[in-house]
Amino acid sequence: MSKLFIVANLKSNKNEDEAKTWLETFKKITLNQEIISDKEVIISPSFIHLNLFRDFILQNNLPVKLAAQNSSPFGEGPHTGEVNAKQIKDYADYVLVGHPERRNNFNESEELLFKKTDAAIAQGLNCIYCVQGEDSKIPAGIKLIAYEPVFAIGSGNPDTPENADTIAKNYLDINDEYLILYGGSVTSQNVANFTKKENIKGVLVGGASLDSEEFIKIIENA
Ligand code: PGA
Repeated sequence: MSKLFIVANLKSNKNEDEAKTWLETFKKITLNQEIISDKEVIISPSFIHLNLFRDFILQNNLPVKLAAQNSSPFGEGPHTGEVNAKQIKDYADYVLVGHPERRNNFNESEELLFKKTDAAIAQGLNCIYCVQGEDSKIPAGIKLIAYEPVFAIGSGNPDTPENADTIAKNYLDINDEYLILYGGSVTSQNVANFTKKENIKGVLVGGASLDSEEFIKIIENA
């Protein structure tokens, strides 16, 4: 059985002082290794804080991994403003691809997401490929899929665990090697309703992960 994936997506939040405060509080997680030993905990800060997070995790021996929130469809070269997969690999093991906020606010097409996926996999990054429903095509090489219905993101109105489980099952019918996560208004109060479902292997947490005490509770309760 795979570990349960618990992902904090900090989105475009926190300046450096706030990121340091988040980490100092999150450090308490090491007081109770039990709660984390059967979980793959992944934190996805802004690009600008990946260095800070990586160094803090190494210095404090925190049992967590990092994810970038985005990565370039291009490799190295004249692509002003882009951060490419080779650069990310120095800091993170994972990358989010196709988050609904990128698909919808930046018009990221499926074609572009496939290119980003290929570029990330070529550098050895693990993609967490986000989908909004059950009819998205999944690029080759993807193992982790996050089902993130738009109505549930940041709304306080999560999908039902039953529906999320059905959507997960439908993806598993296509490929039983997939690991399906759920994202959208997950909190410490509702996380277990999702993670106890047969076909859901973890959660992606946005708003509730901004407070690292609450994120620790989510890890505990999952
Ligand atoms: P939310 O965001 O937990 O704030 O709903 C989830 C996500 O966008 O990954």
